[in-house]
Amino acid sequence: MPVTVVDTIAAFRSTLDEARRTGHAVGLVPTMGYLHDGHLSLMARSKRECDLTAVTIFVNPLQFGANEDLSTYPRDLPRDVERCDAQGVDLILAPPVEEMYPEPVLTTVSVGELGLTMEGASRPTHFAGVSTVVAKLFNIAGPCRAYFGEKDYQQLAIVTRMARDLSFPITIVPCAIVREPDGLAMSSRNVYLTPEERAAAPVLHRALLAGAAAAVAGERDPQAAVDLVADIIRAEPLAQLDYAEVVVDGTVTRPDELHGAVRFVVAARFGTPRLLDNLAVQLPG
Ligand code: PAJ
Repeated sequence: MPVTVVDTIAAFRSTLDEARRTGHAVGLVPTMGYLHDGHLSLMARSKRECDLTAVTIFVNPLQFGANEDLSTYPRDLPRDVERCDAQGVDLILAPPVEEMYPEPVLTTVSVGELGLTMEGASRPTHFAGVSTVVAKLFNIAGPCRAYFGEKDYQQLAIVTRMARDLSFPITIVPCAIVREPDGLAMSSRNVYLTPEERAAAPVLHRALLAGAAAAVAGERDPQAAVDLVADIIRAEPLAQLDYAEVVVDGTVTRPDELHGAVRFVVAARFGTPRLLDNLAVQLPG
């Protein structure tokens, strides 16, 4: 069956309600489109685990700050539909902005301290926008498994907590980061890198690996490990480091000492595009 594309909340909701009524498990993959292999890996996982896989494609204005790249965010719906179809996706919701936000949004979801650091410090309104649209998508889709990439680590932590705090009937499924052969995490924004910036961008992954290696070799001081990661990125002339951090895995809190499950997290600008990456490391203790 070719993928069905709908642009109304009602059509999407009724198809998923009907699927559940007939005993089918629903998988949901929320995206902003311009799909790459990272997105497709989420769909493949949903296909393996669910009877019906539904993808949403919506560039959510609420999560972009005033000076951010909403108007230039890459879009190509026909190509996205083809890629979903090739992946065996059953249903796509690609709503216009007026369908999602017919009137100004007065009700938003606040994620408290989880949204204040790292991405939240650089993009103060971002996570309220993300959690609000994800809450809407969860309400629109109904009970399901929802697939999110570890690529957006803080987003994943926030969505997981929101689903728990607000009792959404949704199981959040974290999915591993898909990388280019040279280590660069796949991202819709990579298309805006110049060839020189594209060549420089894998420094993020190299820096994360160096931080993880230092921790594995016995570095216990979080600040020293973070400085090492930051210095590697700062040494790349085309990279403008936003932050480097290390947190207890699953949280946004820096540990007093590096042990157990931790995660290095970085963000940097390469010219215009701002790229994120992170790496989990399991330490003794
Ligand atoms: P978007 O950036 O399109 O990403 C959609 C999903 O794909 C997210 O869960 C993201 O973490 C995952 N993803 C992106 N790149 C990945 C990669 N290289 N490997 C694995 N997964 C990857 O994230 C958003 O959209 C939006 O904020 C959204 C949740 C849809 C709300 O608007």
